Amino acid sequence: MTKASDVEQELWLFGYGSLIWKPPPHFDLRVPGYVEGYVRRFWQASEDHRGTPEAPGRVVTLIDRAHWETLVDEHSDASATTWGAAYRIPGPHVAEVREYLDIREINGYSIQYTPFHVSRSFAASHNLPAPINCLVYVGLPDNPQFVGPQDAQLLAEHIVRSRGPSGENKDYLYGLDRSLLELGEGSEDEHVHDLARRCREIEGRSSDSSVIGSELRRVGSTDEQEETEK
Ligand code: BEZ
Repeated sequence: MTKASDVEQELWLFGYGSLIWKPPPHFDLRVPGYVEGYVRRFWQASEDHRGTPEAPGRVVTLIDRAHWETLVDEHSDASATTWGAAYRIPGPHVAEVREYLDIREINGYSIQYTPFHVSRSFAASHNLPAPINCLVYVGLPDNPQFVGPQDAQLLAEHIVRSRGPSGENKDYLYGLDRSLLELGEGSEDEHVHDLARRCREIEGRSSDSSVIGSELRRVGSTDEQEETEK
């Protein structure tokens, strides 16, 4: 006879970083919405995805809001809601997905469970429990990768020059900024958006100077050519 404990339970997983645009395998539903009581910040060092052990990049973590309020943060405002996407993993795939995520994401992150609120527009067309208890990976302040409050401009400069096995650090930031805007009304994140704006500005400046540099080289080489042709 099948006991209730033998029935494989589905898992709900909340993504607030790369999971928003890089879903886990085997999900059968993706739901936009938010959690409360946390603040998202680029305060987690990444040695395995967007940086290396020698030159760690920066990725997001969630900070308990009560703890964040004790810190000095240049981005001193934070929305009461942290938007992201929740994924429903059917029971038979839960063990495989958890193993996949532990390998993909565990570098410094701990597992917590938190209530997830479905976005109003999605809830209107789906019959879902409210709220949904979700698993979430949180880089706690005592984990070795947690870097704490950062100067926004230095952080943006760090992101622009970092890269790792999953690609450019700035592409993680731009992907997050873009995918947040698509989640629903009020889903933007000022901290993420400000960093993306600063990174684009830094990139614009360095491409201007490389254009100016190549113009100077071209003019220089033409001058040289003219010198030799005279
Ligand atoms: C995410 O939401 O993408 C995520 C963030 C930290 C660890 C694992 C997943």
